[in-house]
Amino acid sequence: MQVANDVELKGVYKQIGRNVILNGINLQVKQGELLTLLGPSGCGKTSTLNTIAGFLDIDKGEVFIKGKNVTNIPPYKRGLGMVFQTYSLFPHMTVYENLDFGLSLRKVPKEERRKRIEQALELVKMSGLEKRYPRELSGGQRQRVAIARALVVQPMLLLLDEPLSNLDAKLRYELRAEIKRLQKEVGVTTIFVTHDQEEALSLSDRIVVMNKGTIEQVGTPTEIYEHPCTEFVFQFIGKSNQFEGKVKTIDSRMICVELEGNTQIFIESKNMMGSNRSYSIGDRVKLYIRPEKLTIQEQESEPEIFYYNKYNASIVQMNYLGSAWEIELLLFRKRVQVLQPFVKSDWKIGAEVTVGWNPSDMMIVKK
Ligand SMILES: Nc1ncnc2c1ncn2[C@@H]1O[C@H](COP(=O)(O)OP(=O)(O)OP(=O)(O)O)[C@@H](O)[C@H]1O
Ligand SMILES: [Mg+2]
Repeated sequence: MQVANDVELKGVYKQIGRNVILNGINLQVKQGELLTLLGPSGCGKTSTLNTIAGFLDIDKGEVFIKGKNVTNIPPYKRGLGMVFQTYSLFPHMTVYENLDFGLSLRKVPKEERRKRIEQALELVKMSGLEKRYPRELSGGQRQRVAIARALVVQPMLLLLDEPLSNLDAKLRYELRAEIKRLQKEVGVTTIFVTHDQEEALSLSDRIVVMNKGTIEQVGTPTEIYEHPCTEFVFQFIGKSNQFEGKVKTIDSRMICVELEGNTQIFIESKNMMGSNRSYSIGDRVKLYIRPEKLTIQEQESEPEIFYYNKYNASIVQMNYLGSAWEIELLLFRKRVQVLQPFVKSDWKIGAEVTVGWNPSDMMIVKK
């Protein structure tokens, strides 16, 4: 059975003055999924959310919610729940009154309202705090109430614009897990905006990576992280090491690239990024690899793991991160970052080591 789309944007274009804010956005959000809009500041995340909510008047394109064209329908008739980046609770109302507000507007009977408010507060673990005012709550509690308030009206869609960005790291982490649990429990189709890649990777069913008013890639967290389609996506999602060179040989399975000083590196041909994917011998290319894909071995150590790409390097820096070690190597006269789960006793600054990686873990793009 084909899963229905709860939201569809077709060719959405918006220009303010000379600034093109949304440049032909096509997007489909599936029923029940948690979709994240991810990208740097100013890329158009909030504008996309506002287009769906009806707060932004677009120049071209169409918006569909549950199959219905809502392009010319005002926000309050679109049946959405929204949570904003800054606390959006009414300061002069108690928690209970904040949740009751939308329900009384919709003329829900009193008893039904009480029941739904109770349920919503339970869902966000805020039962018992009905009588508090927003100023008597912590940041995390306020955002919980804001989420409960968005959910209590049983919206068709839940739109969350960086709801965790004002919280400290630990709270962010906790509330993130809670939003994920809650969203699955309620089953409401959710669009979540963030510029934090880790948040997007951990929360989402699918991620939309945006850049300068366009969509770069849509995919599951693993697709986005392991198989980025463009250089922008690769660099935005996580750390990277970069090399430059020329194509030496190429076949359907493997590309061999020669760096300065005749060093050869192998990359799987399917790992091409960018719009131009027809490669010829002599083409100038850039290669990318993430720090955790590199493995350090001692030189001439016994049973070695076999890597196509294996080189001598020296350790220039070692940083302990708690859960792992970040090791900087001098490789091909460049500083390269490696993430290792542990270190061996003879790995010290200045030590000579061998570093290896798999051709399937490296990405290639034309210069
Ligand atoms: N009312 C406006 N008038 C003029 N330009 C605007 C207006 N609203 C947004 N913009 C511009 O549109 C672009 C996209 O803005 P938007 O708020 O959608 O970005 P964003 O991805 O949400 O960024 P952030 O992560 O900083 O919230 C930015 O360049 C912004 O300056
Ligand atoms: Mg924004």
